Amino acid sequence: MLNIVEEIIFNFSNNKSLYIGEGLTMAEHMIQTAMLAEKNNCSDDLICSSLLHDYGHFVLEDPNQLVSDHIDGNHEIICANYLKTFFSNKIIEPILLHVDAKKYLARNKKYFNSLSEASKVSLKLQGGIMSNNEAEQFEQNKNYKNAIKLRRFDEDAKKQNIKIKKIEDYKELLISKII
Ligand SMILES: [Fe+2]
Repeated sequence: MLNIVEEIIFNFSNNKSLYIGEGLTMAEHMIQTAMLAEKNNCSDDLICSSLLHDYGHFVLEDPNQLVSDHIDGNHEIICANYLKTFFSNKIIEPILLHVDAKKYLARNKKYFNSLSEASKVSLKLQGGIMSNNEAEQFEQNKNYKNAIKLRRFDEDAKKQNIKIKKIEDYKELLISKII
């Protein structure tokens, strides 16, 4: 089971591709997200969710995996399905809900305006702003508040040229969270 930790470290270390439209790599973005969770004294589980929330992009980049175009947009589902064998639901659910959290928060004008251009474009592709009914449904999820926290860290974790940790710094945490 420790192989998944090695795989995660390998994928983070070898990720040279840019996060589309944001000017930093996906690995840098995810580590920044985890650093914000740490800074805000979040639980180890939420730090782990933050670190892995876009891991679906690495799963998609795996050349050995045949992925059809139509599921390409659902990176949070791909990520959750892939990682749920290895991590608890407390870690997986905020990952699974982090796109819905954006659709939920976007009901607020100020939040919507704060989104980056790339994020506004993807919001549309992800189904747009939630209706009141959908928002009520969303609040039924046990971990929805953590998904919202993750989402806010996600939005802030797009800074360029700041000092960031290495993926190896999270190795112990990842190992401790394997189920
Ligand atoms: Fe993200």
